[in-house]
Amino acid sequence: MSYLETTKNVYKEAALTPDVGLCCTTNPIWELPGLKIPKIMQEMNYGCGSTVHARDLSNNPKMLYVGVGGGMELLQFSYFNREKGGVIGIDVVDEMLEASRKNFIEAETQNPWFKSEFVDLRKGDALNLPVEDNSIDVAAQNCLFNIFKEADLKKAIAEMYRVLKPHGRLVMSDPTCEQPMNNNLRNDERLRALCLSGSLPINEYVKMLTDAGFGTIEIRARKPYRILSPKDYDTNELIYIESIEVAAIKDPMPADGPCVFTGKAAIYFGENDFFDDNAGHILLKNQPLAICDKTAGALAKLNRDDIFISKSTYHYDGGGCC
Ligand SMILES: C[S@@+](CC[C@H](N)C(=O)[O-])C[C@H]1O[C@@H](n2cnc3c(N)ncnc32)[C@H](O)[C@@H]1O
Repeated sequence: MSYLETTKNVYKEAALTPDVGLCCTTNPIWELPGLKIPKIMQEMNYGCGSTVHARDLSNNPKMLYVGVGGGMELLQFSYFNREKGGVIGIDVVDEMLEASRKNFIEAETQNPWFKSEFVDLRKGDALNLPVEDNSIDVAAQNCLFNIFKEADLKKAIAEMYRVLKPHGRLVMSDPTCEQPMNNNLRNDERLRALCLSGSLPINEYVKMLTDAGFGTIEIRARKPYRILSPKDYDTNELIYIESIEVAAIKDPMPADGPCVFTGKAAIYFGENDFFDDNAGHILLKNQPLAICDKTAGALAKLNRDDIFISKSTYHYDGGGCC
């Protein structure tokens, strides 16, 4: 059986018997006026962060969500759209589609504004999306892509890129790991399916996105996720896994390479009111400006003693240089 089949079986089980904490972490639930998340959706929260960010969701975006789980994030996305078929939900596991369909009916009873028809559930594979080219404003996946091996991950990202409109965004949450993992862990199909042994270092994850053509990347959050200890797993050392929230934007690729925001900022504190680097960046005195890693590198090369460049906070929330 391939690891993709094992993954389907794991999530078939997770659909038939909801398992709190089966994979991923419990996150605080979004609190929005008039939004009630049914308990069953919370129990089937198999994600490791949030892909729902209000600032992506203005002007009734057409949305796509791949790997529906219990449907919690699709309900949250619907909150911002409230139109028939406003959110397309794709899953390869029949039982998961069925479970989420039931959960949306429950959500209708608790949310007077919500109708199940807001979500267009489709059977399909992340590696071959049943969605038209250039038709989506915001695409999301939570804790699915980390399961894929490199060639499949490449396909899954290329599929998301294909269906997004120009300047559309792919919003994701996935585990990442900066330590090497041995092949026994990497090739353990069940651990992979449980989002424990497929994760990449952040730089490699980001490179997969920029290699696919996404011109802007935003790392919005980075947090502790899991420990694999030698006591419980086939490893000689403790492995620390984190999870990140990332947006990849289908902006054209800049000639000098992608803009990757990792939460750095520059502060000019010199004699003048502002500093202009004549490359499109104006730093107002004592006003932190969010900068991408490329701009951080260019400013650092100037070797000035009146510009401070912060380290990556891995918490980027908009604005800035590019
Ligand atoms: C870790 S769960 C995450 C569920 C949901 N995103 C959440 O945050 O709760 C992975 C989801 O992806 C689905 N899935 C697994 N393999 C898939 C594939 N190849 N294509 C589409 N969906 C898949 C599973 O059925 C499951 O719903």
